[in-house]
Formats: sequence, C-alpha cells, structure tokens
Amino acid sequence: MGYRPVNLCFLLQVLWCAMVEAQDWHVDMPTKTNALSGSCVVIPCSFTHPSSHNPSVIIWYSYHSTKYPVVYSTDAEAVIKPFRGRTELIGDVKSGNCSLKINYVVPDMNGYQLYPWINPDTVNSRLTLNILCFISEVPSTVDLFVEGEPKEGDTLRIICAVKHTCPFFPPTLSFGDTNGNVQNEQTALGQGYWQTISTISFPAQVSDQGRVVGCWVSHMRRPTVPKWMEINLSCKFFFSPHVFILVSACKQFHCWVLLLNLGRICFNTFRLFKSVCSFRNTFLLSHLLD
Ligand SMILES: *[C@@H]1O[C@H](CO)[C@@H](O)[C@H](O)[C@H]1NC(C)=O
Ligand SMILES: *[C@@H]1O[C@H](CO)[C@@H](O)[C@H](O)[C@H]1NC(C)=O
Repeated sequence: MGYRPVNLCFLLQVLWCAMVEAQDWHVDMPTKTNALSGSCVVIPCSFTHPSSHNPSVIIWYSYHSTKYPVVYSTDAEAVIKPFRGRTELIGDVKSGNCSLKINYVVPDMNGYQLYPWINPDTVNSRLTLNILCFISEVPSTVDLFVEGEPKEGDTLRIICAVKHTCPFFPPTLSFGDTNGNVQNEQTALGQGYWQTISTISFPAQVSDQGRVVGCWVSHMRRPTVPKWMEINLSCKFFFSPHVFILVSACKQFHCWVLLLNLGRICFNTFRLFKSVCSFRNTFLLSHLLD
C-alpha cells in the first residue's frame, strides 16, 4: 500500500513537467504582407515564452540558410540595407509584443522573409515562422459605392474605402468639390491590414441621378488619383393621376417599365420577375400606392 503516494507524486511531477513544456516559445504574426512602395508597414506580432525566461531583447532578421542578416536591432549599424534606418520595434517586449514597423518601404524589400528572435542568445527561441514581404507599385483598389438603394429625398451616402498597411500615415480620401457631410474612420482588418473609409452624405435630389462623383485617393509619396462613380437613384413615386405607364416590356426574366411622373420623366426601371410580370399592372399599382 505504501507505494501509492510515491506513484501519485511521480504522476504530479510528470504533469508539472508537461505543463512547463506546454508553455513553450510561440510567435503569432501574419505570414505575408502586401505593401505599397513609399508607404509603411506594421507587422503585428505577439509571443509567449517559457516562464523560466524573461524576454528583454528582440532582434528581427531576414531569413537566410547560413547567415543571420539583421533587419531590426537597437544597434543600427548592424542592420542591412535596404532596412537600415527604416525599422522600428513598436511592440512592448515585456508584454509579449514583438510588432515591427517598417518606414518608407522600397521595392528592394520585395521577397524578404522576416522573423523575430526573442532574446537571441536563447537558441530555443529562434522560431521558424517568417513573414514574406511583397512590395507593390500599384495601390490597392478603391471601393467607391452608394450605400443601399436611395430614392430621391433620402440621404444619399457615398462610401470610399481603401485598404493599406500603414496606420500611422493612412491614405487620405477626398470627394473633391462634392458638398456634403464627410466622416472619416479607420478600422483594423487584422493580419497587418487597415482600411481607411470616408463617407459623404447629402440629401438626394432628382438632379443627382446620373451625376458622376469622384473620390481622390492620396497615398504617402504618391500622386493623388481619382476614382469615379455614377449615382443611380430610385424614383420616389406617389400615386397620382399624372402617373402613366409609358412603356412596359418583358424580356427574358425582367420587365422594364418606364414611368412619367408629373411631367418629369423618370428613367428608373422597376425590375420584376417574370412570374410577377403577367399581372404587372396590378402589381405596379399596388406598389405605387404603398
Ligand atoms: C502591440 O503593440 C502595438 C504598438 O503599440 C499595438 O498597436 C498592438 O495592439 C499591440 N498588440 C497586442 C496584441 O497587444
Ligand atoms: C447606374 O446605372 C447604369 C445603367 O443601368 C449602369 O450602367 C451603372 O453601372 C450604374 N452605376 C452604378 C454606380 O451602379
């Protein structure tokens, strides 16, 4: 009977060892980044470490099979080109944050695979996770669209959004001479990407139909480029004896109905499914009465 406590003790010891082992070095960061030349990059990076270690130093390296080229170190002289003078550790080492900022990204950085080494004198803390840098000369596409399906009289909201890697100097967005209430915001998309969003809102008027609106996007160290969009408004119809159905035609799966309202021609189309089409007049009247 005497062997039982010994066994239990041994078991607990094994368990304790396993728990310590489980708290191994671990780094969490994206595996690639797509950055615009001339901009900056923030590589989000966090790590955990065995409790036996007290991390105080982080050096970032470029992956190489035999050497250890430094891309960030407090010893600026040790940093290789094209990273020299351009990298900054923005994470707090004590709180397990190894985030790196690269200022003024250049095309020469394309293809580099970077990794952090926490307490570089500790061999075990060298991890195999790398982040691959893609440097582009072409800014990411601009999303420019009208929110929802506004009718005349509604508040028209036009949204212009662009993805980027540089929250410190985000691209600036402008609607040029379009008047309205402008709101700007920046959201984190995760994995080292952010989105700058500008929204302009104004009351939609009939004259806005077909109007072309531009969003001017300016990335750091790059010329401002506009993106254009045409406003499409739905007509707001009231039932009145002045509403006539001018043309109604069904083709394939849609019906096109052209309406005349109080002498003003509205070219907006009502798209109905064919099943509704067969009794379209009834449908349209009830629609207009709503
Ligand atoms: C790491 O530090 C950066 C810069 O201060 C911060 O933006 C980020 O939120 C931190 N990450 C975590 C996981 O705390
Ligand atoms: C507005 O409608 C026209 C004609 O249907 C279409 O060609 C154009 O793409 C539409 N514009 C937008 C921004 O949806």
